[in-house]
Amino acid sequence: MKQSNQMWGGRFAEGPDAVMEAINASIGFDRRMAREDIEGSRAHAAMLAATGIVSDSDAQAIREGLLTVLSEIEGGTFEFSAALEDIHMNVEARLKEIVGEPAGRLHTGRSRNDQVATDFRLWVRGRIDLLDGLLAGLLGALVSQAEAGADWPMAGFTHLQVAQPVTWGHHMLAYAEMFARDRSRLADARARMNECPLGAAALAGTSFPIDRAMTAEALGFDRPCANSLDAVSDRDFALEFLSAASICAMHLSRLAEELVIWSTAQFRFVTLPDRWTTGSSIMPQKRNPDAAELLRAKVGRIFGANVALLTVMKGLPLAYSKDMQEDKEQVFDAADALELALRAMTGMVREMEANREPMREAAARGFSTATDLADWLVRELGLPFREAHHVTGALVAMAEAKGCDLPDLSLADMQGVHEGIDDGVFAVLGVENSVASRRCLGGTAPDQVRAQAALWRERLA
Ligand code: ARG
Repeated sequence: MKQSNQMWGGRFAEGPDAVMEAINASIGFDRRMAREDIEGSRAHAAMLAATGIVSDSDAQAIREGLLTVLSEIEGGTFEFSAALEDIHMNVEARLKEIVGEPAGRLHTGRSRNDQVATDFRLWVRGRIDLLDGLLAGLLGALVSQAEAGADWPMAGFTHLQVAQPVTWGHHMLAYAEMFARDRSRLADARARMNECPLGAAALAGTSFPIDRAMTAEALGFDRPCANSLDAVSDRDFALEFLSAASICAMHLSRLAEELVIWSTAQFRFVTLPDRWTTGSSIMPQKRNPDAAELLRAKVGRIFGANVALLTVMKGLPLAYSKDMQEDKEQVFDAADALELALRAMTGMVREMEANREPMREAAARGFSTATDLADWLVRELGLPFREAHHVTGALVAMAEAKGCDLPDLSLADMQGVHEGIDDGVFAVLGVENSVASRRCLGGTAPDQVRAQAALWRERLA
């Protein structure tokens, strides 16, 4: 017969069924929080000593023993046990082997419920800091592209149909805006999650005279959580992280999609370097944008994690339920996927080559300066915009019928549609003039792009 659990088995005559153990154990994944678990326990032990709840010598033994456990785990010599369920009990059991009796005093005034909530907050907080650094790197890469190509005309699209010429730099900085908002969303989530659950114990708090402010401060939290029931049953922090991660992943997938499109033979807007592409085993000419495609696909995991955790949490009564153990794998997986996606995107953006000529050619095709023509009619001939729109439409139809672009129409052809047109119109039909004219704040003009890029440099410094 299997022995009952050494941590909580007092009232149990026999140990768990093998399947019970398999469904119950979280050590297979929560070992990733070993460092946070030990950090939390060390802070708790120091507080127990400072408040006189355990002796200084016991606390000292515990704190040092925990460092030994950490070095065993990080050195790869620690033997994890599924019978001990989770990281919390694995660490404590090993601590007992190392320091003996004092180990049994560590769990005074706490529960695994506040312990796991603390560990997990620390872990997510650490990931936010890592991802923030990666996002800063991606922003830097986008700004570099924008600086290099601040005045390179490129086809701008709506409905993926050529719309108006824009500049390469302007397009790059559009993504800088998105990823900066992602940083700020993660920072918001971080600020809200930075409260310490320790001391909530199982759900009701503890009768020991603990000092919650002390542990909160030692662990870098702004303050202790105010309500013990909420402290152990809240997973909003993980959900906010997953929501922010989902939005960021969505942004990454949009840029990834553009890289896939731009690197086709039809577009040739960018060349992805060999380092970020793969070949085909049958078609020797191929250079496939696999990193961009996989990045586009990784998003599925991150959205999935968000929905999965929302579903786990929905309808749970207060306070802790074991359902909540299912929070971690989702968050770990999403964080890993986002980290990898950010690293891949940063590498590609840093090393991709923007191809000036194909971008310019595309910008000049598809009557992309039709709006400039309409604006010219308003400005120079005083036409109401609606009428100018109509006249321009007729000119586009004429060019289309002739199989040419707007600048290829003769002045006589144009005057046939509206007699007031003179040869001043040709100046606005060129893509360089078109982009240079869009000087309004936030517009695509090279001056604006340079000014924005300089602002980004300042913010990133
Ligand atoms: N492994 C558990 C989890 O991840 C730790 C908390 C266990 N608490 C309990 N009351 N059984 O949620």
